[in-house]
Amino acid sequence: MREIVSLSVTAAAGGLLYREHSARTKAERLSAATMETLLNAIDANDEETGHHVRRVASYALILGDAAGLDQHTLRSIERVALFHDIGKLHGALTDIFHENAKLTPEERRAVRTHPQRGAEVLHPLSAFYPDLASGVAAHHERWDGKGYPRGLKGKRIPLPARIVTIADSFDAITHRRRYSAARSLGEAVAAIREGRGTQFDASLVDLFLSQPVISKIGDAMRRAHGPRRTGDKRRRGERESVPDVTFRWRTRSHESPARDR
Ligand SMILES: [Fe+2]
Repeated sequence: MREIVSLSVTAAAGGLLYREHSARTKAERLSAATMETLLNAIDANDEETGHHVRRVASYALILGDAAGLDQHTLRSIERVALFHDIGKLHGALTDIFHENAKLTPEERRAVRTHPQRGAEVLHPLSAFYPDLASGVAAHHERWDGKGYPRGLKGKRIPLPARIVTIADSFDAITHRRRYSAARSLGEAVAAIREGRGTQFDASLVDLFLSQPVISKIGDAMRRAHGPRRTGDKRRRGERESVPDVTFRWRTRSHESPARDR
């Protein structure tokens, strides 16, 4: 009799565990779908920004990996990187961002609203991803406190934002934009070094510029830029190669798609 009771308790516990696992897997899938939908919305509005954020995510993850950060933090960095510019998708700002001409002071002021706008767009997800909106809001803060919007200084700037800002600057320098030609890896290295301890967290810059890390970053950059040399004009109809972002949030939910339905 005691054995039967113990067997049924074990079976009940097993059932409970299975249901918990199933519920968690569904929640992870919903989260993955939400993130991918947001990324699709960026692509649909502004493909150039969609490509930029994927490259930034790939560089940020190389730096995060090199810093020995855990998976939870890496996922958070990836989300901040992928959605850091979502605040640019605002009618008035999209045009300004793609202007060829120099910005007027008024336009510059408008551009500086995009981190906060992004945080507002992402605010409803704060209950699930508490670091997302704050990381996006802080991606133009500077280590010396001279950034925007809040003038946060040093380690008061969330870690994902400190990592993403280096990756973002690197991509802004090395990737051709409508208003500026791409510059070389060497020029980007010099610019990032120049911002060490002023614009950027010094220890993260040291890691970013260390030989193994910058060599991985350089490889990722060349893959993203495809066979063209830096500065070349893209031929008509030629598609830009986009980093296949890791989508770390998706990995587990796609392991066994049929089982937990
Ligand atoms: Fe930005």
